[in-house]
Amino acid sequence: MRTLYTTSPAPCAALLQRGGLVAFPTETVYGLGASVHHPEALARVFAAKGRPPDNPLIVHLAHPDQLAEVAEVDAMGRSLAETLMPGPCTLVVARHPRLDPAVTAGRPTVGVRIPDHPVAQAFLRACGVPVAAPSANRSGRPSATTWQAVQADLDGRIEAVLQGEASTVGVESTVIDVTGAAPIILRPGAVSLEQIQALHPSARMYRPDDPLERSPGTRYRHYAPRAHVVVHQPGEPIPTPSEAGYIGLHRPPEASALGLLALVDDEEAYAQRLFAFFRTCDARGLARIYGEAVPARGLGRAIMDRLTRAAAGR
Ligand code: TXA
Ligand code: MG
Repeated sequence: MRTLYTTSPAPCAALLQRGGLVAFPTETVYGLGASVHHPEALARVFAAKGRPPDNPLIVHLAHPDQLAEVAEVDAMGRSLAETLMPGPCTLVVARHPRLDPAVTAGRPTVGVRIPDHPVAQAFLRACGVPVAAPSANRSGRPSATTWQAVQADLDGRIEAVLQGEASTVGVESTVIDVTGAAPIILRPGAVSLEQIQALHPSARMYRPDDPLERSPGTRYRHYAPRAHVVVHQPGEPIPTPSEAGYIGLHRPPEASALGLLALVDDEEAYAQRLFAFFRTCDARGLARIYGEAVPARGLGRAIMDRLTRAAAGR
């Protein structure tokens, strides 16, 4: 299959409406979209990514008015949706009984998200249907934050890539379960626990003893480049730096000898560049990637989550 590359949402929306797969930019990472009304397209999303079939897809909407098409949202869900959407978060709510079970991998819940991104918005409005979309990477690889990264993973496997700028947030959305009495964060992201607690003081991170099943995606090897990832504490030595990449806020003593160095000004820039840095290190054939540890609060919690997962990946 020849993949279309374009900056124009209209032809991409037309392809999606006919059952095609279209990658599109969002503020978090690029998504790989399929119409929730096309069962074959939904099946092809799993095939194109090599995604385990029991890992549910997030449904993307242009506007909160569309929530009722795919979900049954209660009062807590509605109030969180009103405050946090559009934005870099996903709410897990009760699914609409008519939603295709392939989207939710047979679960009673569905993740819904309204991206805060002009191109995503234009695309989703043109589609006019809810769009199921996982991140646009091959399963197990770092999420794609540029259209070139989508191309590297999915060229020839999907109908189109809607080209936009690099994603500004750079890590996937905060996934928040709102089906119980308190919001529970299943996956940390740019919408922080602290922000959600300001709205609902009882909000908390998922705990392994929680009765609800965790984001199934978090079970799988994730975010992992081919290189071996190390969570680096400042001051720790970096052996054979020429074979290593380093990303962080502080310059390590080995800086001038490193194979690749990315110094970032703040945590926002760290999150934004992390996955692209993983991919660049892989392209250079570096053996190890050091990511500086940051305090696990605010956006730092999401950075540490991705780093520790990537580090555990092998
Ligand atoms: O920022 C994002 O969320 C991006 C962009 C494209 O929107 N999407 C994304 O999708 O990261 P994906 O499929 O790579 O990750 C979705 C995560 C997975 O861990 C999945 O298991 C979880 O959300 N998830 C989806 N639906 C769920 C549900 N009903 N219950 C629990 N977890 C769910
Ligand atoms: Mg993903």
